[in-house]
Amino acid sequence: MPLTDETRAAAREIVARYPVGRQRSALLPMLHLVQADEGYVTAEGVELCASELGLTAAEVSAVATFYTMYKRRPVGDWLVSVCTNLSCALMGGQEVYDRLSEKLGVGHDQTTADGRVTLEHAECLAACDYAPVMTVNYEFYDGVDEEAAEGIVEALARGERPVPTRGGPLCTFAEVSRQLAGFEDPRPEGVAGTGFLEPSVVGLTVAEQAGWRGEVAHTERADGPTGPAGPAPVGDVLPGKAPADGARSGVSPAAGAPTTTSAAPAATKSKGA
Ligand code: FES
Repeated sequence: MPLTDETRAAAREIVARYPVGRQRSALLPMLHLVQADEGYVTAEGVELCASELGLTAAEVSAVATFYTMYKRRPVGDWLVSVCTNLSCALMGGQEVYDRLSEKLGVGHDQTTADGRVTLEHAECLAACDYAPVMTVNYEFYDGVDEEAAEGIVEALARGERPVPTRGGPLCTFAEVSRQLAGFEDPRPEGVAGTGFLEPSVVGLTVAEQAGWRGEVAHTERADGPTGPAGPAPVGDVLPGKAPADGARSGVSPAAGAPTTTSAAPAATKSKGA
C-alpha cells in the first residue's frame, strides 16, 4: 500500500523542525514515521526519506539497517521483545522467551500467522533492576515469569491492552511508531502511568542510608530542571563530595515515588523525541 498523503505531509513537518543545513538529522524520526504507515521500512519509505532529505537511498538504508528498531519485514500490531541478556537470563528471561516462542509458534523476528504478534529476542532493555523484563511495543512488563508473559500475549489475542508495569498505556506498533517520530499520543490517558518504581532508586536509598555523599556534577539545564525534557538530576553525582540540597528532589525515599518532579514520565514520553 503506498504511503499516504498524510504521511508525506508529516514527513515535511518533521524536516521543518530542524535547522537548514542539519535536516538530515530528521532521518531517525522519519524512519519511525514510515514504519507507522507501512509497518516496516519499505523501499518506498526509504525513497521518501532520501528525497526529502537530499540523501541517497544507500545512505538511508545504511541507517535503517543499523538500528534494530527499524524493521525490514512487516511487524504485527504487537511487537513482543523479551530480554535475554545477562541480568534477565540469570532471572529466567530465556525461559520466558522459550515459552512465548512455543505458544506463538514463531521464533526470533517472526510474526504469527494472523499477522498480529511479532516476537524478538532483545538486548538489554535498560531495566535490569526489574529482570526479567519484556516489552510490548516498548512498554515495560517487569519481573515477568513464564506464566505472566503467557498471560500478556493471551490478553493481546483477546483484543485487550494489558496495562504495562510502568510508563504510558499500551499502543499498537503503528501508534508508538508515530510517537517515536515525534507526534504526541492523542489519547488523554497517554500521559498516565507510573514513572518509576522502587527498584530504580534502591541504589540511591542504600547510599543515603550509608551516608555516602557526592558532589552534584550538573545541576543546571538550559531549560531548567523541571522543563519539558528536564528530569531532576537524581544520582548525577561524583564520589566523595556532598550533594547540593534537593539533589534528590524528584524521589520520595520512603515510597520511591515522584514528588516535586518526575524523572521517568519525562523519559517515557521523550521516546518521541
Ligand atoms: S539484562 Fe535485561 S534489561 Fe538489562
